[in-house]
Amino acid sequence: MSRLLVIGCGGVASVAIQKCCQNSEVFTDLCIASRTVSKCDALREKLAGKTTTNLTTAQVDAMDVPALTALIRAYQPDAVLNVALPYQDLAIMDACLSAGAHYIDTANYEAEDTDDPVWRAVYKKRCKELGFSAYFDYSWQWAYEEKFKKAGLTALLGSGFDPGVTSVFTAYARKHYFDEIHTIDILDCNGGDHGYPFATNFNPEINLREVSAPGSYWENGKWVEIPPMSIKREYEFPQVGKKDMYLLHHEEIESLAKNIPGVRRIRFFMTFGQSYLTHMKCLENVGMLSTTPVEYQGQQIVPIQFLKTLLPDPASLGPRTVGKTNIGCIFSGVKDGEKKTIYLYNVCDHQACYREVGSQAISYTTGVPAMIGAMLVANGRWQKPGVFNVEEFDPDPFMDALNRWGLPWTVEEHPETVE
Ligand SMILES: NC(=O)c1ccc[n+]([C@@H]2O[C@H](COP(=O)([O-])OP(=O)(O)OC[C@H]3O[C@@H](n4cnc5c(N)ncnc54)[C@H](OP(=O)(O)O)[C@@H]3O)[C@@H](O)[C@H]2O)c1
Repeated sequence: MSRLLVIGCGGVASVAIQKCCQNSEVFTDLCIASRTVSKCDALREKLAGKTTTNLTTAQVDAMDVPALTALIRAYQPDAVLNVALPYQDLAIMDACLSAGAHYIDTANYEAEDTDDPVWRAVYKKRCKELGFSAYFDYSWQWAYEEKFKKAGLTALLGSGFDPGVTSVFTAYARKHYFDEIHTIDILDCNGGDHGYPFATNFNPEINLREVSAPGSYWENGKWVEIPPMSIKREYEFPQVGKKDMYLLHHEEIESLAKNIPGVRRIRFFMTFGQSYLTHMKCLENVGMLSTTPVEYQGQQIVPIQFLKTLLPDPASLGPRTVGKTNIGCIFSGVKDGEKKTIYLYNVCDHQACYREVGSQAISYTTGVPAMIGAMLVANGRWQKPGVFNVEEFDPDPFMDALNRWGLPWTVEEHPETVE
């Protein structure tokens, strides 16, 4: 019996909201608030008559903290689920603190204006101190720890799939399979085919920035950074088949390195087809991935934002995408003095997701855990004053909920490992 305010109404939000509406016993009231209110109204209409959750909508620019605070005060939700963009994380956390609501998100803070000199100075210092150069990191949100603690509120960070489920898998492996985990390889495989020469599966701006950045991994207490796409491996994914995968920097490496004692190496690999890589390299070479505004016919445009308007809307890929995703983690370590390796993964079918909620599996695999995180915070099972990553809570209720709400998982002992 709880009230949830959802910020954003894009691909991930659409799934999270539909799953909340399947779970009306917990989510009795839900307000969909986003910048473009027509999208919220369209989703509410689509759900009319199919749920007992009482749905309302609101227009809000989440960067406008006073306006968002007023909306939270007026609606009085138990929790706010942020499934807008990482640029809005801090503004939404500020509004939650002012109005007294718990906070949940799926991606860590990223600055929208990376040319801002104040942000750049902090960024450069962090690059030097920590040794990775991604534009996003947890320091901004972890800095809210005292404020959330004092306010008696919970901020749950990274409750998507990766980060999210992969981090809960880690907590589960640690609790039930290992005395100590030594290595974690997170493998994100999308075996889906949408038939376009080039499209991104979620917000193009966020996706392309992530993929075109240098890769990095955590080893023996420090970051090792490598040129983009310079470590490649091949892996035979259960139910998908053999795929090329590349080492990327990914945000959960940072929190797992902090929260999993004894871990010696953490790597993240994602699969890409050759067509995707060739297109991306070309776009990068001509400057289309740049976030620095350029002047065009008297107007300032940001190349990557212009590119977004040309690419297929990720939400439109659902009906066209066939095949499966396989996302999971290979853990190695020791249990009762014996060496041990396990592989914990979920397989998700694009067309099955489309039939259920009208979205492809990438939005589905993020939206379901976003709902589960919001449920565990709202029903009190994952409530603790402060700022937490998902691996800091008891993984069992989350793992049970994954099986119940559409993302069943498998544990394989003695799996093929990654060199
Ligand atoms: N952890 C994971 O596994 C994972 C995986 C994929 C994605 N994600 C994260 O999920 C989030 C959503 O991704 P998506 O693919 O759903 O993105 P999307 O389709 O682009 O949707 C973003 C939504 O946020 C709204 N929005 C943007 N700026 C806003 C503002 N200032 N105020 C209010 N609403 C605003 C947009 O409104 P408009 O309609 O007006 O543009 C849109 O409805 C992102 O943070 C992404 O990084 C996490």
